[in-house]
Amino acid sequence: MRQVNLGIIGGGTVGGGVFQAIQRNGALMASRLGVSLTVARVAVRDLRKARAVHIPAKLLTTDWHSVVADPAVNLVVELMGGTTTARQVVLAALKLGKPVVTANKALLSAHGEELFEAAQQHGTNLYYEASVAGGIPIIKVLREGLIGNRITRLFGIVNGTCNYILTRMKDEGADFAAVLADAQRLGYAETPPDLDVDGHDAAHKTGILASLAHGFWVNPKQIYVEGIRSITRQDIEFATKLGYTIRLLGCVKTANGVGDGPSPTKKPANRPSAIQVSVYPVLVPNSHVLANVNGVFNAVYVRGDVVGDTLYYGRGAGQDATASAVLSDLADAALDLKCGTKNRIPPFIPHERDGAVLPMDDVVSRYYVRLTVEDRPGVFAKIAGILAKAKIGISSIIQPEGHDGVTVPVILMIHDAPNAAMRKALAAVAKLPVVKSAPVMIRVESFE
Ligand code: NAP
Ligand code: HSE
Repeated sequence: MRQVNLGIIGGGTVGGGVFQAIQRNGALMASRLGVSLTVARVAVRDLRKARAVHIPAKLLTTDWHSVVADPAVNLVVELMGGTTTARQVVLAALKLGKPVVTANKALLSAHGEELFEAAQQHGTNLYYEASVAGGIPIIKVLREGLIGNRITRLFGIVNGTCNYILTRMKDEGADFAAVLADAQRLGYAETPPDLDVDGHDAAHKTGILASLAHGFWVNPKQIYVEGIRSITRQDIEFATKLGYTIRLLGCVKTANGVGDGPSPTKKPANRPSAIQVSVYPVLVPNSHVLANVNGVFNAVYVRGDVVGDTLYYGRGAGQDATASAVLSDLADAALDLKCGTKNRIPPFIPHERDGAVLPMDDVVSRYYVRLTVEDRPGVFAKIAGILAKAKIGISSIIQPEGHDGVTVPVILMIHDAPNAAMRKALAAVAKLPVVKSAPVMIRVESFE
């Protein structure tokens, strides 16, 4: 049987999980693939560190260069994280013509174009199933399963840490900082966890999915990102009363968020369509399946023009879920080595080189707005006047009970409006003397 020797760079949460999973299911995989996977070497930073998963000392080294260059290693697995040394590791391996498996979405987001090009140039491949949505095989779905579809909608709960935090804040009234500490202890969070809570990890993943779905490389700088730090228990409670659940969503939509994508008859023949690519907290109607994705689970909802609506669900972070996705890539890479295929399905080849990301200012959505205002007559009229002048329609106004008698919360539900107009109008509302704190604005998604 053909043997493939792995050089793993990183023996932490994911590296340890992969090592453990190969001990557990390596023989099963060999029987299915006709290739045996053997961990030849593991590079770590600190040889004396206590490890939750035992890796034999004879496999360990602190010298990643020697692992990548080892002639016995024919497949390199980058599981160290970060974007500087990890880039060097991946480039060094690709230049030697060795295939690379990575779980590193930050690396792909920052340097994906360069790395995929290097893989092609050196006649090898870069595999990245574990980089998005943990154990859900969403990369394979987009690259292979839905290859005959144009993707018109993609909504993803793609950060396990944020979903875990939002779920526990809603279900238990738990404190943000305490729940984040639990997510770190459970191995869900990035180092530092700001990557999770400020939305950047979700943006890295959403950019990868958007690039795959729409065939042009999405520059991470063009992705509009808001995290969950500003979400308060008060907003979670009001959203619940209104029939919504707050979730951090990656959104990839065609045609300004309206309709089912660009119509070939309306689009000028030589102009690419602009795609919305963004990450922000969203009020999801409780009747929608994404409102019921809880804890560390992720879900990606994809609409294709042939298949219609599809949904993928599973654990989005943690040792075993991520290890499962890495095993899937190891199997693909091992089969490609066995069969001598260099680019069975290219990892990422742009087909729309001049595709464009829709500026956030032009993105249209509905909104939930919470204002804290003085408790006196005439206040609503002033606010409504500003919104009407901006041609922004209010669908409902709610003044919940239980205020302090001096200020009151007011919830406005706003009809479809462009982001720029909405921000400008709220800036004017914030300047009214009767408005006592910065307005809170959360988008509402209808999934049309
Ligand atoms: P981690 O627990 O911090 O592990 C990182 C590993 O890399 C550690 O073993 C560390 O060595 C090693 N390392 C760091 N710098 C090194 C260097 N210069 N040379 C050799 N080894 C080095 O991180 P993780 O959670 O496993 O994440 C790894 C990657 O997977 C990241 O890209 C992350 O974004 C991605 N990912 C993580 C998850 C998850 O749920 N955790 C899910 C999907 C993707 P020491 O052990 O000696 O410190
Ligand atoms: N920190 C990431 C998350 C790990 O919480 O989703 C999985 O990519």
